[in-house]
Amino acid sequence: MNVFDTHCHLDDEKFDEDREEAYLRMADAGVRRCVCVGSDLATSRRSLAFARAHEGVYAAVGVHPHEAKDAPAGYLDELTRLLDEKEAVALGEIGLDYYYDFSPRDVQKKVLAEQVDLAVKLNVPVIFHIRDAHGDMIDFFRSRKTLPGGIIHCFSGSAETAREYGKMGFYISFAGPLTFKKAPHLWEAAKAVPLDRLLVETDSPYLAPEPKRGRRNEPANVVWVLKKLAELREIPEEEMARITWENGCRVYRMDE
Ligand code: NI
Repeated sequence: MNVFDTHCHLDDEKFDEDREEAYLRMADAGVRRCVCVGSDLATSRRSLAFARAHEGVYAAVGVHPHEAKDAPAGYLDELTRLLDEKEAVALGEIGLDYYYDFSPRDVQKKVLAEQVDLAVKLNVPVIFHIRDAHGDMIDFFRSRKTLPGGIIHCFSGSAETAREYGKMGFYISFAGPLTFKKAPHLWEAAKAVPLDRLLVETDSPYLAPEPKRGRRNEPANVVWVLKKLAELREIPEEEMARITWENGCRVYRMDE
């Protein structure tokens, strides 16, 4: 079984003690690929460096809405340079986060729009982080002539919202919360997404799935998300692994 963790943060300091071991455990669990996602220029560069040195690890580079207020002048030029490297498979994570509001909303929107323009120009897929901001994000997408392809990561909305993003061509990625004991809205959403648009991820070190909940998360644990998704869709786990593997390779434009 080949499993694809389409979103993790192995560069995070929570892996400083055992990053290589986490990488080895990932392989032991059958997780053959992962994408390490940056949230500012420093974490983007770190993710890329880790990807360069590890087979099956890829990177995404971008400025997260939390960090939007600190995006330095010239950050788009730096992202352009980073995206030129072969291990950089996407622009992300970028988006809107109205739950924490760590950056003012107008700044979040500006930095989001600038990066989406860059993704369209360079023709690369995008990883979107959206928290408590689905209404504004859907309005933003509708206001644009051209959308990049990409992923709505760690999906947190309703089945109806998932369908809206689906109509726009986006892939929907589920993380640990899908396995939580009380997540009926996510279960409905997972059933609403077409099979060829489903992805699994850990978002590690955050959001460990059941039965690891409360501990530090790591890419090997994506198998628990996969298991839950297979159960919800009434598809054998190995088949769901194959489907989400193929979807991951397609959205990130990798050979299988
Ligand atoms: Ni993330």
